[in-house]
Amino acid sequence: MLLRSEIPAAHDAWNRRWGAPYGRAPRVVVPRRLRHLPVLAGAVGPFAFQENNRTRRFEYPWVFDQIAPTKGLRVLEIGGGNSGLQFVLDRLGCEVVNVDPGTKARGVGWPITPEFLGTLNRRFGTNVTLRPCFIEEANLPDAHFDRALSVSVLEHIPEPDIANILAHVRRALKPGGTLILTVDLFLDLKPFSDVETNKWGKNLSLKWLVEESKMELVHGDRSELYGFPEFDPSRITARRAELLVGGFQAAVQTLVLRKS
Ligand SMILES: C[S@@+](CC[C@H](N)C(=O)[O-])C[C@H]1O[C@@H](n2cnc3c(N)ncnc32)[C@H](O)[C@@H]1O
Repeated sequence: MLLRSEIPAAHDAWNRRWGAPYGRAPRVVVPRRLRHLPVLAGAVGPFAFQENNRTRRFEYPWVFDQIAPTKGLRVLEIGGGNSGLQFVLDRLGCEVVNVDPGTKARGVGWPITPEFLGTLNRRFGTNVTLRPCFIEEANLPDAHFDRALSVSVLEHIPEPDIANILAHVRRALKPGGTLILTVDLFLDLKPFSDVETNKWGKNLSLKWLVEESKMELVHGDRSELYGFPEFDPSRITARRAELLVGGFQAAVQTLVLRKS
C-alpha cells in the first residue's frame, strides 16, 4: 500500500496526542534551537529529539496501528535512531529494543548514543534498550519478539545489510510475529527516471525484499510496491498529488510480513 498524504482524522489526533512528528511547541517561549534539550522533554514530547521529514506524519500513526501495542508486547525496532515512536510504545507497556549502529553504519548512520538515549529514558520514565551495533552483533534471542518494525531505514542501506537484517529479524520473531515496514518510494529515481540514487538512497525492489525475508506478505498491495510486476510507474506518477507532501519527492510504501 502507498500512504496517502491526506491522513485519516484518527491519525491527526494521534499526532496531536504525542506531538508527532516534530515535537510540541512548549507553552513558554523557547527559541527553536533550544527545543531539543532533554530538560524540555516533558514539554516538547518524545518526537522533538530527531529531525524528521513530513512523511513521518503519516508513517508513525500507521505503524503504531499495525503494532497495536499492549502491555508486555515485545517490540524490536531496526534503525530507530532517536525517534519518538520507541518511547511511545514503551510508555504503553511494550518492551522495546532498538538496534541501530548509528554513525558506525558507514555513510548512512545517524548519531545515536547510549548516553543520550539513557537521558531521554530518564526524562520520559521509559526503559527502551538500545543496541548500538549491527543486528548480527546484537545477541537477539531466538523467537522472542512479537513485532519488529523499521521506519524509513531499508531504502538507505546496502542490500547485503538488508538481507542480514531480514534473516536476523525472522530468527528473532516468534512464529506468527510480524515485521512492519515503511519504505520510501523516490519519484525522481528509477523506474520514474534514469537516475539510480539520490542523496537519501534508492528505490528498493520490495519483491526482492519479500522473497529474501522468507516471510509471508500479509499487508501490501503489490500494484503499489516497487519491484512487483503489478507495479506500473505511470499509474503512480498520475497520483503524485495524492501521495506527496510539499516538495519532497518521496511517497511511502507500507508492508507487513508474517513469520509462519
Ligand atoms: C532515516 S533514519 C530513520 C530513523 C527512524 N527510524 C525514524 O523513524 O525516523 C535511518 C536510521 O537507520 C539507521 N541505520 C543505518 N544503517 C543501519 C543498519 N545496518 N541497521 C540498523 N539501523 C541502521 C541510521 O543510523 C538511522 O538512525
